Amino acid sequence: MRNTNIVKKANKYSIKEAAKIIRLGGIVAFPTETVYGLGANALDPVAVGKIFEIKKRPSFDPLIVHISSLKDLPKLAHATKLSKKIAAKFWPGPLTIVLPKKQLVPDLVTSGLNTIAIRMPDNKIALKIISESKVPIAAPSANKFGHLSPTKPEHILKNLKGINLIIDGGKTKIGLESTIITLKGNICKILRPGAITKDDLKHSFPQIRFSEFKRKKIISPGILKSHYAPKKPLLIINKKNKNKIEREKSALISFSGKDIIGYKKVIFLTKNGNLLEYASKLFSTLHKLEKENIDWIVVEPVPKKGIGIAIMDRLEKASFKG
Ligand code: TXA
Ligand code: MG
Repeated sequence: MRNTNIVKKANKYSIKEAAKIIRLGGIVAFPTETVYGLGANALDPVAVGKIFEIKKRPSFDPLIVHISSLKDLPKLAHATKLSKKIAAKFWPGPLTIVLPKKQLVPDLVTSGLNTIAIRMPDNKIALKIISESKVPIAAPSANKFGHLSPTKPEHILKNLKGINLIIDGGKTKIGLESTIITLKGNICKILRPGAITKDDLKHSFPQIRFSEFKRKKIISPGILKSHYAPKKPLLIINKKNKNKIEREKSALISFSGKDIIGYKKVIFLTKNGNLLEYASKLFSTLHKLEKENIDWIVVEPVPKKGIGIAIMDRLEKASFKG
């Protein structure tokens, strides 16, 4: 495995090169609207194997397959009328739909499950790489298993080796991974909350019934209790721990601006309570804080509404369970 990573700014030449690398069985990191993905030809098990190796990802953790046209959906999955309508409404966009897979999809991509997770990213660079490579692209977030997802190329460079090409498309727009849903008939389960919320789905498709997702067996490590963790312990302020925080050794990510005295550092991700702005800056701030001379990352909870649900989901998974 090569130890160096090559980064190129996104332009028509680098995108062509990226598509060619994918076609030839190589690995390309590329931006999506959520986070950067680590991509390989989803139909080539040897190429997909390299993703698991680079990420140190256990093979029981299935990948998301990215497509650039709605026409590709029925090639890879058994899509019902409703799932096609949902895809047509929200794609390209941060929604991953889990559906029964077709035989063409290698078992390694889906970790032996009979379902496949699919989405069409809302990012011109990603869409071009997929369409020019002429194959569906399996791409998990471009980070080591269990760590924070990258929202900038430098986050990838810091942690991964052996990628053939990293396409630099700047900072990703949303900054949190896509919403993942399963759909059986009109029964929907949200496996991982994201920028597209239950209310968004309900609003466009009132016929959908939501069933609470229970963590019975691991069908999605992204929904494990602990995941997406920075290398420094992260503490969400609550009634119990509030008075025990060693403020002089901690950085605080504040939301309300209240009770900020005594911390080594105080950070605001938004000044006017804009949760979309907060989400877009969260992971890059955590990446920065990992390297700083502090013992704790302390976070004030945000309201659980809209994308706030996804923000709190990631913070809870990243938080210290001591
Ligand atoms: O925004 C995103 O979704 C990013 C960008 C790159 O598209 N991708 C991403 O992939 O977050 P990843 O692999 O880091 O997270 C995908 C999650 C995993 O937790 C995986 O277990 C779950 O999707 N998943 C994949 N296939 C599944 C399936 N068939 N059933 C249930 N969960 C599945
Ligand atoms: Mg991930």
